[in-house]
Amino acid sequence: MSTNSFIIDGKTPINGEWVGADSGVTFPVYNPANGEVLGQVPDQREAETNRAIDAAAAAFEEWQWSPVKTRHDILRKWFSLMTEHAEELARLITLENGKPLADARGEQTYSASFIEWFAAEAMRAYGDHIPATIDGVRNVTIKQPIGVVGIITPWNFPSAMITRKVAAALAAGCTCVIKAPSETPFSALALAKLAEEAGVPKGVINVITTGSSSTVGKILATHPIIKKISFTGSTGVGKVLASQCSSTLKKMSLELGGNAPFIVFDDADIDAAVAGAVICKFRSSGQTCVCANRLFVQSKVYDEFAKKLTEAVSKFKVGNGLEQGITHGPLVNAKAAAKVDEHVQDALAKGAKTLIGGKRGEGAFYEPTVLINIADDAVVMKEETFGPLAPIIKFETEEEVIKKANDTEFGLAGYFFSRDIGRVWRMAEALQVGMVGANTGLISQTSCPFGGVKESGWGKEGSKYGLDDYMVLKYVCMGGINSRR
Ligand code: SIN
Repeated sequence: MSTNSFIIDGKTPINGEWVGADSGVTFPVYNPANGEVLGQVPDQREAETNRAIDAAAAAFEEWQWSPVKTRHDILRKWFSLMTEHAEELARLITLENGKPLADARGEQTYSASFIEWFAAEAMRAYGDHIPATIDGVRNVTIKQPIGVVGIITPWNFPSAMITRKVAAALAAGCTCVIKAPSETPFSALALAKLAEEAGVPKGVINVITTGSSSTVGKILATHPIIKKISFTGSTGVGKVLASQCSSTLKKMSLELGGNAPFIVFDDADIDAAVAGAVICKFRSSGQTCVCANRLFVQSKVYDEFAKKLTEAVSKFKVGNGLEQGITHGPLVNAKAAAKVDEHVQDALAKGAKTLIGGKRGEGAFYEPTVLINIADDAVVMKEETFGPLAPIIKFETEEEVIKKANDTEFGLAGYFFSRDIGRVWRMAEALQVGMVGANTGLISQTSCPFGGVKESGWGKEGSKYGLDDYMVLKYVCMGGINSRR
C-alpha cells in the first residue's frame, strides 16, 4: 500500500471547508503502474458545484480589491511551501499519473514555477496613458480581474496544468472553482491544501471532484456568475464547452489537442534530432499535448535517423515510475494503451513496418514503438495518439513537408531540425502552429507563451501574456480637464 501524506481521502475544499459529496458517494483513484487503489475522492455534482461557485463569488468581493503586494506575498508563500514539500508532491504525481519520478520531479518544479512567476506578474499589471485627441479630457486604461473563473484541467500534468491557470487567476485578482481530473485529483487537493496554508483566503480556491465531468463542466460553462472558463484537454470537449459558454458569452482560454509535426532535414545534426525526438515524442510516454505525433524525415537521412532512434528507444526502461532507473512509466489507464494499439494496428494493416515495440504490456503499459513506411491515410497521420508511438514518414522537399505538416486541423506545436539559417526562418514562419521548436524537442518554459492556433485553442498561458487572459481592459476617459488655467 502506498503512503503519501497528500492523499486526502474523501474531501475537497469548498468555501474553506473540506467536505465530501452530499450523496456520500466516493470513487477510487488508481495507481496506473499496478492498479492499486490510492484513495477515494467525493463524487460531487450540481449542488456542490453551485455552492463552490457562490463561495468563489463571495470571496471575489474581497480578493479583487486586495493590494497586489498581498497577492504577491501569498503566492510566494505558496511557492515556498511547494518547494519545501517538493519530493512528496513529485511522488504523488508518479503515484496517480504513472510518470517516472524524474519526470514527476520536473513537473513539480515546473508547476511551482508558475506560482513564482505569477506572484511577480501580479505587480506588473500595468495600464496605459493615452494622449487625448479631443479637448478637455485625459485617457487611461486600467486592468481589472475578470471575475470568478472555472478551471478544468487534465490528468497528464496533474499539478502544472492547475498552477499555470490558478496562479494567473489569483495574481489577477480572480477567484476560482477547479474541476480536478478524476484520474489524478490528489495533486489538485494537495495544491489547495498548501494554498490554504499559505494564506489564500477561504472561497478563493474551491475544488470539485466528480464522476461526471460533463455535468460539472456544463454547470461551470453555463453559470452566469462564472466569467471565464480555462480548459486544457481534448478539442472535442473544448468545442462542447465553447458552445455551452456561448449562452453567457464567457471568455475562454482553450489549450486543446495537437498533431505536432517533427521534421528532420538532411542538413540536420542527426544525433541532436534523435535526442530531440526522444524527449519530444516519448516524454511522459507520449502523453503531452505538445508531443511529436508525426515524424517527417528527409530521404537522405531517413535510414540513419530511424536506426538511431530505434537504438535510443531500445535503451528505455519501462516500469513502475517509483522504481530506480525507470525511464518510462505506464499510460494513464488501459483505455489509453488500447488507443495506442489501435493506431499501431491500423498503420501495420496499411503497410507499416515495426522497428521496435508495437505491443501492449500488462494493464496500462505499452511498449515504446517506432514504425516506418507509414501510409498517408493511416489514422496516426490525422489523430493525436497520446502515447509512445513514433511513426516515421519519408519526404523529399521542403515544400512537400510544409504542406504535409500543415495538413491538419490542429496547430499547437511543431518542431524541425536544420542547420540552414534561411530554412530555419522559413520553417518557423511556415508552420501553422502556436509554438515552434527549432533544433530542440523541448519548448515548455514558464516565461514563454503556451498556446495553439486553429483547432488547438485560444489564448496563451504562462509568460507575460498569461495574466491578461484573466483580466479585462477598461478605458477611462476623464473629462472636464482644462489644459490652461
Ligand atoms: C500539455 O500537455 O498540455 C502541457 C505540456 C507542457 O506544458 O509541456
